[in-house]
Order: sequence, then structure tokens, then C-alpha cells
Amino acid sequence: MTNDAGNQHGSTVYKPVNFAEKLSRINERWSPRVVAEMNDYQFKVVKIEGDFVWHDHSETDEAFLVLEGKLRIDFRDGFVTLGPGEMFVVPKGTEHKPYAAGEVKLLLIEPRGVLNTGGEDSDRTAQNDLWI
Ligand code: NI
Repeated sequence: MTNDAGNQHGSTVYKPVNFAEKLSRINERWSPRVVAEMNDYQFKVVKIEGDFVWHDHSETDEAFLVLEGKLRIDFRDGFVTLGPGEMFVVPKGTEHKPYAAGEVKLLLIEPRGVLNTGGEDSDRTAQNDLWI
């Protein structure tokens, strides 16, 4: 059997995680979907629009990386605005409230088991550990 250039390096197919493709399969907003794990951390994509609830995460920092759109994260003493290609890490225990005037597509990075609304019980609280 002859080899071509495409299979001389083995037969295992390694696929990238494509954020745009994953996001295209999400219809709901404010419902994070896990796309990968690294050790105990999860990478989640989510679409949001509008106002979230004030909350904090008492056990962990939380990373927001904007893929599309413009995100504002409010804090009790200020705010940060993020555009595509920008990220921000919210420190553990810091109250925050994401806000998106238009639709924003985000990548969240946080330990497995972290709820989106932290210690707050809200109608925005999403089911955890849903993969796409
Ligand atoms: Ni949070």
C-alpha cells in the first residue's frame, strides 16, 4: 500500500476546538457550554445580551475572554470594557456584573464546578457542566 503525504504521519485525527463552530450551535443566551478541560479547569463558550446579576465567586478567580462584541463588567467601584481579543480576570471574592448592550460571544475559563451566578440563586443561574 502506498502512502500519500497526508497519512505518513499517522492515522489519529487531532481536531482543534473551533469557538465559532461551537457558538453557532448555541441558541440560548446566558447558558455556558464546556468546550474543553485542562486539568481541573474548564473552557466555556457563552452568548450573552443584556444585564446579569451581581455576584461573586468566593472560591476562585474567573477569566473572561471576548471573542465577539463589546462586554462591560461592572464592579462596585468601577468597570472594565472588553472588545474582541481582550480578556480580564475577575479576582476571587470580587462582586461583578457582566453587561452587554448587544450580543457578546465569550470564552470563560474557570475551575470545574463553578456556577455562573456564584453564590447568588437567580433565574440567570445556568445548569453546570453542559458540553457542546
Ligand atoms: Ni462571575
